[in-house]
Amino acid sequence: MAQTLYSSLLLIALCSISECVQHQYYYINVNKTWTEAQRYCREKYTDLATIDNMNELNNMNKLVKSENNGATEYVWTGLQRMSVYKWHWSSGDPALLLNWASGQPAGSDDCAVMRNGQWFDEPCSKTWIFICYNTNTGLVFVDQLMNWRAAQSYCRQNHIDLVSVRNQNESQQLEKFINDRNSSGSAVWIGLFRDTWQWSDQSNSSFRYWNTAEPNNAGGIQNCIGMNQNAQGRWHDISCTGSFPFVCHEDKLIVIQQNLSWSEALRYCRQNHVDLVSVQSVEMQRRVMNVVKLASTEAVWLGLHNYCSMNMWLWVNGDMVCYQNWAPGNGSTPENCKLENRKGAVQSGGDQTWISLPESHRLNFICTNY
Ligand SMILES: *[C@@H]1O[C@H](CO)[C@@H](O)[C@H](O)[C@H]1NC(C)=O
Ligand SMILES: *[C@@H]1O[C@H](CO)[C@@H](O)[C@H](O)[C@H]1NC(C)=O
Ligand SMILES: *[C@@H]1O[C@H](CO)[C@@H](O)[C@H](O)[C@H]1NC(C)=O
Ligand SMILES: *[C@@H]1O[C@H](CO)[C@@H](O)[C@H](O)[C@H]1NC(C)=O
Ligand SMILES: *[C@@H]1O[C@H](CO)[C@@H](O)[C@H](O)[C@H]1NC(C)=O
Ligand SMILES: *[C@@H]1O[C@H](CO)[C@@H](O)[C@H](O)[C@H]1NC(C)=O
Repeated sequence: MAQTLYSSLLLIALCSISECVQHQYYYINVNKTWTEAQRYCREKYTDLATIDNMNELNNMNKLVKSENNGATEYVWTGLQRMSVYKWHWSSGDPALLLNWASGQPAGSDDCAVMRNGQWFDEPCSKTWIFICYNTNTGLVFVDQLMNWRAAQSYCRQNHIDLVSVRNQNESQQLEKFINDRNSSGSAVWIGLFRDTWQWSDQSNSSFRYWNTAEPNNAGGIQNCIGMNQNAQGRWHDISCTGSFPFVCHEDKLIVIQQNLSWSEALRYCRQNHVDLVSVQSVEMQRRVMNVVKLASTEAVWLGLHNYCSMNMWLWVNGDMVCYQNWAPGNGSTPENCKLENRKGAVQSGGDQTWISLPESHRLNFICTNY
């Protein structure tokens, strides 16, 4: 039961049932200070990169590794040190339910254990047994004493992360899980910690990926994050005045994982976002290729429709199709006007070129918020 609940909740957390918003990252190969990088990202994209979870971290590290290729020691991301402490889950879940024992948190410690179903703050350097969660097997009891950070690394390497408790139900399930292992009354690390770091885009992501012994605020001036290229992208706090390449993110294309006809897809996008996407440049095609891999169908509707009598393709915003990326045999030859109207889709695999399909085909589609 716990297993099914946890895996389905995890899926919901990573990817809401029908709309999959994943940060799209852009590596900018120019050396700038953190503040200059922030200004650049806010002008050209959405903001300096925010990372929500392990999945996004892996995408980020892949991109940075291939583009930076060891050129600089650090690459900026959007996290910076502020003054207010906030509690977070290691997994990136929002900390909504807080189940502190009375008089807790006592205020001086930055990590939390569960004991008899309630939470206590503890120094992160203490060693306790702990509980990980795993998409396939649910909760995992680890009967080894480790400090909080070591426990977090263990869970991330072998499972997904330290356990989160997001509601009363999960709290009860976790307590039962601990009792069933004859460990009631023991303190057990959970994924709760506090810090003063805040993302540039003000998002509440609590995802952290520190290198060992980081952050250390050496000299009291290390208020920004560098992803260390000599340590598999693990994070160091460094001075914001260093000059490094950086990663921006932009979240304006959304893959909708519902199988709809072209007209239904158009209606959905206009009701819930702005429109079906128009791909009028190689840059926009690159952004589409970035997100289309999230789709579950082999092709994905674009805002591209065919005016059969004029033998012409147009974008839904009324523009002509100037930039083109058709698959061979598609888009160029006149369509048979006696048959159903044709619309344009991008293939989600292979070379991700465009194809012409009858409009009643049921496909995932891409909405835009531009
Ligand atoms: C950024 O600075 C590093 C030295 O820190 C240098 O090797 C690299 O070429 C610079 N990159 C660019 C794009 O100027
Ligand atoms: C708690 O979880 C159980 C088992 O998954 C479920 O049947 C029940 O409806 C849940 N209760 C609440 C209040 O969510
Ligand atoms: C818990 O304790 C009971 C009674 O001593 C024992 O029968 C059971 O095997 C123990 N369970 C575990 C998981 O150790
Ligand atoms: C962050 O959390 C606060 C309080 O829970 C909420 O009001 C705010 O909208 C959240 N910010 C974002 C960007 O989600
Ligand atoms: C949409 O269609 C694809 C391919 O036929 C299928 O794998 C997927 O489960 C369908 N999605 C929904 C939400 O029905
Ligand atoms: C359109 O492209 C697809 C994918 O490459 C191909 O299978 C199909 O035959 C093409 N259509 C025509 C009419 O050539």
